[in-house]
Amino acid sequence: MIEIRNLYKTFGKQMVLNNLSLNIRRGETKVVIGRSGAGKTVLLRNIVGLVRPDSGSIKINGTEVTALGEKEYDRLRMEIGMVFQGGALFDSMNVADNVAFVLNEFMNLDKKTVADKVRDSLALVGLKDVEHMMPAQLSGGMRKRVSLARVLCMEPHIILYDEPTTGVDPITAAAINHLIIELRNKLKVTSIVVTHDMNSAYMVADSIAMFYRGQIIADGTPDEIRNSKHPVIKQFINGEAHGPITEDESLIFGHVK
Ligand SMILES: Nc1ncnc2c1ncn2[C@@H]1O[C@H](COP(=O)(O)OP(=O)(O)OP(=O)(O)O)[C@@H](O)[C@H]1O
Ligand SMILES: [Mg+2]
Repeated sequence: MIEIRNLYKTFGKQMVLNNLSLNIRRGETKVVIGRSGAGKTVLLRNIVGLVRPDSGSIKINGTEVTALGEKEYDRLRMEIGMVFQGGALFDSMNVADNVAFVLNEFMNLDKKTVADKVRDSLALVGLKDVEHMMPAQLSGGMRKRVSLARVLCMEPHIILYDEPTTGVDPITAAAINHLIIELRNKLKVTSIVVTHDMNSAYMVADSIAMFYRGQIIADGTPDEIRNSKHPVIKQFINGEAHGPITEDESLIFGHVK
């Protein structure tokens, strides 16, 4: 469904993606974990074409997307929803207009249909009567949920979630986890969930990939990752100190045993 091969991305002298490869099967929820600043958001932005890679291949449904022009990418973006880390709401628009933005811009729908879709998708993320509020009046967790509602009203086949449960209370986090699972089970949505929240990772993941030094160094089932002997993974999931990480450890590829 999404096949990423040998992806490279450099900003100035900083190599953020360094020969990264990753496969996401149709209908799968792939969780990507990794340290802050590692490049997880950059990876998602490459997939939706907001950042273009220096080299490498990204295939979505068999189409090589790195070769697409902006117009063709726009069409593809209708199928791919991205829930941005900070919400990425338009500050000058109220919640309803934010949620309906793509519907209003690109689809020829009547006002009532749009209003219904906005209300329904806000209800899915547990928000009611917030349509007329401005982003500045919302809490961080509410902004994140509005961002999620904006994606849901598009009914995309692919959803990329950038830290969907970070900075929200445990009950909201549980509701978001539940929603991610439901979207997979009921609507067969294919998704990538970037998170630091291991509870959420174990709950929603079909498989978990570890991002480290610009690459995916391991990809396995939640149990395989939980029981992994790989020092980088052990340190990350247990917060364990294991001494300095050697170059050798960073070069271990493939499935975690
Ligand atoms: N447009 C850009 N121009 C220059 N550098 C960038 C750009 N976008 C990201 N970077 C750099 O790439 C690195 C990876 O950033 P990224 O946001 O992907 O990290 P992350 O893994 O998502 O971290 P976090 O978990 O904190 O969200 C950072 O050092 C960042 O400064
Ligand atoms: Mg990030």
